[in-house]
Amino acid sequence: VRRALTWTEIPLRTEVLREAARTLAPYYGKVFGTLTATGMAAIEVGLEWVGVRPEDEVVVPSECCYLVPAAIRRLGAVPVFALVDDRLTLDPLEIHRVLTVRTRAVLAVHHLGLPCPVRALRMATPTEIPIIEDAAQAFDLRSEGAAVGSTADIVVTSFGEGKPLSLMGGGGVFASQQLLENAMDRHTAAAREGTTLPRSSALHPRAVEDLEAHIKAAHELIARRRKAVARLTPLLHRAGLRPWRGRLYDSPSWHRLPVWAQDAAARENALMAVSAEKVVQLPHATSVPQLMHFKEHTIVLSPQTFEELLLIRLDDHERLEEWACDVRRRGHIDE
Ligand SMILES: Cc1ncc(COP(=O)(O)O)c(C=O)c1O
Repeated sequence: VRRALTWTEIPLRTEVLREAARTLAPYYGKVFGTLTATGMAAIEVGLEWVGVRPEDEVVVPSECCYLVPAAIRRLGAVPVFALVDDRLTLDPLEIHRVLTVRTRAVLAVHHLGLPCPVRALRMATPTEIPIIEDAAQAFDLRSEGAAVGSTADIVVTSFGEGKPLSLMGGGGVFASQQLLENAMDRHTAAAREGTTLPRSSALHPRAVEDLEAHIKAAHELIARRRKAVARLTPLLHRAGLRPWRGRLYDSPSWHRLPVWAQDAAARENALMAVSAEKVVQLPHATSVPQLMHFKEHTIVLSPQTFEELLLIRLDDHERLEEWACDVRRRGHIDE
């Protein structure tokens, strides 16, 4: 009896994850998906799914989480860094400069929850090159009115701690093809006897308990951030801090709110205000393409720096209020 139970647990676990992936997929504009142990693993599965092999080139923005190009390197492929524009996402006008005969995919990252113009990227990229949308820092985001997943071939995401939709770890790959549901299969006879090697691990079924509550929390989080940005925007302008501005019908999910200090005094005020250490984040000192992991394998057009950029964290309401009040006081801004 014990043996029979052990065997029946395996399809049950697969079924729980399959159902969870089908529940999550519409939030990423797709119907089917597979869940992975991390967001980085989701990128690896996604790249392989669209046919990326060792030595192939994958276009990636010069500004993004370093785990994105790291996933490309893990497959033995080559990250090709393309310049971002002043909205901090891939510039569709730059794409033609980085495409080669070895390009196998473009990774469109919604960096900091800011909409990457996926539709314009699709138009700027030959149709045989798939676009993979990375929505790890995004939720309920729209780019020029288009929802996540509406243009891209596949969507990858992370459910890690601190992500808008957090399951305290994990990742997902979403597509329109049902076949993707088998990408993490390593228990069935077909997987055992197939030609592709099994993968290391899927998301644990426990992580998806209370999935509806996690999704509701993500919606509430994004609504709070959007309200905070609406409240802050006039104050920031008056304090000499220019907040990020999107295209028409862009709807960011604001993992951070980027602001550009107009002069040294405005920057100093922002950094010296009460609670600044919890609210204001400086960009990393070393840009992603310059990191040791990528130096020898990467192709970069020209390094970009964003020295005057400050990143505002919106999730600690109390500290954000303290900071905003002090910025106002320091700048002697009249309401
Ligand atoms: C845009 C982006 N993609 C992928 C990842 C990787 O996700 P994970 O940490 O779950 O591996 C991250 C970050 O952590 C990320 O910010």
